Amino acid sequence: MVALARSSRPQPQITEASAFETDVLEGLSTTPKRVPAKYFYDDAGSQLFERITEMPEYYPTRCEMRILRDHAADIAKLIPEGAALVEFGSGSNKKARILLHEAPKLAAYVPVDICGEMLEREVAELRPDFSQLKILPVTADFCFPFELPAEAKAAPVRVGFFPGSTVGNFEPHETAAFLRNAGRILGPGGTLIIGVDLIKPAEVLNAAYNDAGGVTAKFNLNLLVRVNRELGGTFKLDTFEHHAFYNRERHRIEMHLASLKRQKVWVAGETIEFRAGETIHTENSYKYSIESLGALARGVGWTPVAAWTDTQDYFSIQAFTLADAAATRHTPH
Ligand code: TRP
Repeated sequence: MVALARSSRPQPQITEASAFETDVLEGLSTTPKRVPAKYFYDDAGSQLFERITEMPEYYPTRCEMRILRDHAADIAKLIPEGAALVEFGSGSNKKARILLHEAPKLAAYVPVDICGEMLEREVAELRPDFSQLKILPVTADFCFPFELPAEAKAAPVRVGFFPGSTVGNFEPHETAAFLRNAGRILGPGGTLIIGVDLIKPAEVLNAAYNDAGGVTAKFNLNLLVRVNRELGGTFKLDTFEHHAFYNRERHRIEMHLASLKRQKVWVAGETIEFRAGETIHTENSYKYSIESLGALARGVGWTPVAAWTDTQDYFSIQAFTLADAAATRHTPH
């Protein structure tokens, strides 16, 4: 899951609420309108997302689980004894379970997610099954630097795990920034294991993001429910529609909320005008090849070391190691 917007430091509620307000108002006053995808993941959104992963059309989670199960021992070879395993956007604990079963003695497992409620539930479920393991959850927006718990910092090496093709929900330049930030957090000698959805025929992609059960639509519309609840918004849900389609030129699924009519909506005291058919762009899901993600990662100091795919080549798990400390030193902008 995409995890952003919160720092690991305790912050007064008002700071978080106003970041949401600022981002939403700014996004709705630009053309085309957009809202950062991280705001999908309130508690309801995180739960809806888990239901998407069970939809028959939504192949990525099943493919990734298959790859993890089939290659768990090989993948776990990348996790040295005594390492700290840091999972970015942990969401459900079911992928980590597979790795944790195979991984040798870990110094700590650090699941990081933007949704504190989800994180607590998943960790509570995991603990009884891994009683020897130090599990140190961090509620944080991993798009920004955040502090690892002391045990994880003290470990001789850190391995990042970033499943779910969440990396595809960033713009390519943000992916580069994320990879740099991950390099800084994991440090020299670090390894990164990333689950990435692959480029494939548009029909398969379009179906995956337009499940017949309407769960993806509900997930998308939940953003407006959240705006209504937390920012005093007046969105009428039945006047907006879920639109998702594959953009072949840019290798991405685009998700939008389309206004079915010309209308005015109030958000946090501001008026937002919609033309009939105008959309709010809520998410992209970029699709990569093993080569294209590899090239991006190389550009910021990570060296591709391994890649696994399912039998249909729908999904990949790719591993990288930090080439040298120089890459983590600074970010030219
Ligand atoms: N990262 C996954 C993907 O792009 C999961 C995901 C994020 C998603 N946001 C979504 C899936 C919205 C469906 C709809 O597929």
